[in-house]
Amino acid sequence: MIRKKIVAGNWKMHTDLKEALALASEIIDEIREESPHVILFPPYPYARTIFRLLNDQSPIKLGAQNVHHEKYGAFTGEVSAPMLKSIGVDYVIVGHSERRAYFGETDDLLLEKMNTVLDNDMTPVYCCGEPLEEREAGTHEIYIRQQLEKSVLRLSPDRLEKLIIAYEPVWAIGTGKTASPEQAQSMHAFIRDTIANHFTESESEMIPILYGGSVKPGNAKEIFNQKDVDGGLIGGASLSPEQFTAIIKSFS
Ligand code: PGA
Repeated sequence: MIRKKIVAGNWKMHTDLKEALALASEIIDEIREESPHVILFPPYPYARTIFRLLNDQSPIKLGAQNVHHEKYGAFTGEVSAPMLKSIGVDYVIVGHSERRAYFGETDDLLLEKMNTVLDNDMTPVYCCGEPLEEREAGTHEIYIRQQLEKSVLRLSPDRLEKLIIAYEPVWAIGTGKTASPEQAQSMHAFIRDTIANHFTESESEMIPILYGGSVKPGNAKEIFNQKDVDGGLIGGASLSPEQFTAIIKSFS
């Protein structure tokens, strides 16, 4: 089964408008037809402007870093899935570890968010990953299985074809510590098996699983070469056009 290869850039709460446009333009200039699928996750205020820079044929797609689980209503300051869809967003990150840690997002809520994203014909990029204590205690697989049981495994099977998963060990995010290619492969295979055991092997085989956590030009190739790693969700290095495009070119 040939799964989509994807490199996604999560800009988090960085850049002003001018910087965001410059960054997007430099990335657009480097992307070729044969490049993997590229998704940019800029801050909300620049999403529409960046969408206008991309043309329909562009292999670069627009994503949002978060969404509210309700479709509309009196939720001051929040952004809904229909709003995102209406400005050209195709992908939404759901359950980044920063949202879990700083905004108290639970897997029950994340299941609702995934369903709202799917109801609006967009693709959720569901993030899972264990904290350092779980890795050190050797309980990382149990931890990830629990995250999946409360979220992805409760989706209806017909929704899986639009799902992307990102495995992002919390201890590797923004720390400069990367999971080794073997650690990444072993967790990606574990996630795929867990999904196959609950649904079917063919359903599990079609889900792209991205690795995230201190991916840089120097380690991307080895990580992306692993059998169950279908690309990366890149934070820090996605703010540098040189580094991000070098990571995109690591798929060769
Ligand atoms: P990082 O972030 O590449 O800066 O570690 C990854 C992420 O948070 O998605």
